[in-house]
Amino acid sequence: MSKPEEIVLRRPDDWHLHLRDGEVLGDTVSASAASIGRALVMPNLQPPIVTVDMAHAYRDRILIALKHSAPSGAATNNLFDPFMALYLTDHTSRETVAEASRAHDVLAFKLYPAGATTHSEHGVTDIGRCTEALEEMEKQGVVLCIHGEVTDPAVDVFDREAVFIDRVLIPLRKRFPGLRIVLEHLTTAQAVSYVEEAEGDIAATITPQHLLLNRNSLFEGGLRPHAYCLPVLKRERHRQALVAAATSGNPRFFMGTDSAPHSQARKEVDCGCAGCFTAPYAIALYAKAFEEANALERLDDFCSGHGADFYQLPRSTETVRLRRESQLVADQWPFGGQRVVPLLAGTRLEWTLIGSQSVPPSA
Ligand code: NCD
Ligand code: ZN
Repeated sequence: MSKPEEIVLRRPDDWHLHLRDGEVLGDTVSASAASIGRALVMPNLQPPIVTVDMAHAYRDRILIALKHSAPSGAATNNLFDPFMALYLTDHTSRETVAEASRAHDVLAFKLYPAGATTHSEHGVTDIGRCTEALEEMEKQGVVLCIHGEVTDPAVDVFDREAVFIDRVLIPLRKRFPGLRIVLEHLTTAQAVSYVEEAEGDIAATITPQHLLLNRNSLFEGGLRPHAYCLPVLKRERHRQALVAAATSGNPRFFMGTDSAPHSQARKEVDCGCAGCFTAPYAIALYAKAFEEANALERLDDFCSGHGADFYQLPRSTETVRLRRESQLVADQWPFGGQRVVPLLAGTRLEWTLIGSQSVPPSA
């Protein structure tokens, strides 16, 4: 079969996105709004988004930033529709969950085990403390998004996801079999098998970096901070399992970029932050992974179908087009007064989104 020159997709949805806050918001929002329809915006700000009121105020700031962001994204800006996740803590009350279930723009709670990742210090110290909140989520059908890694320092960092499934996720799902769960940013073959085989309402997001890179990329010619995220990249066999899952057509797997910008200064430093910035190139990156797996025909369901179905929202009626046209990933992207280095900066991607902003707006 000849290679297609163009791909038409329903406008994709990003079900795991970090937009940050304050002066960087215009840059982060416009980077996603150029190609994305709906997004589930992560609540790990400082302080974290723990109430419906805080989520609404944050959503308002996002929409204002969108309005004032670079004019090059303007044509698509009004298609960007952020949905919010609330940060689950040891103290989340039944009432907060009930209130969230009534707010149409709040879709989920996010479970960060305390200490697992960036700004997770307010996260859950012991899932046993969340019984009341989890009962209510199960009752109301509110989704729980999970950062699935144990924080036990005795567990090797490459094993923390697999151990989380055995120690935390399986017991949790026994206690709350009706709880709707998204296991976020899968990185291992064990997680893929678990999600494929588990009973009940469970799904998973997969990032572009975990589809395209294995852990060798962290050390290629030296330490590579811009490929460092959590959960950390794994071995090649895990990457292959993730590609097989994403391209299988199984509706439990869908797009969530986990685009997580940190300034260049906070990445290229001792004890640099975890997070890969992929938002401006996310669809081109997923297209690369799907084409390498000969599965371009499944890209639409993965990016624009399965996630909406899981979150019980209609699939988008808008479209985006990708052309087979080489583009260079920019060396840097504006980030408030600073800059952020995109994943795979300086390399070329074969697909380019037509009519969207694929070069950084001038700072
Ligand atoms: C995320 C961030 O920077 O907020 N970092 C990351 O490496 N993925 C947090 C997260 O999603 O774990
Ligand atoms: Zn994340």
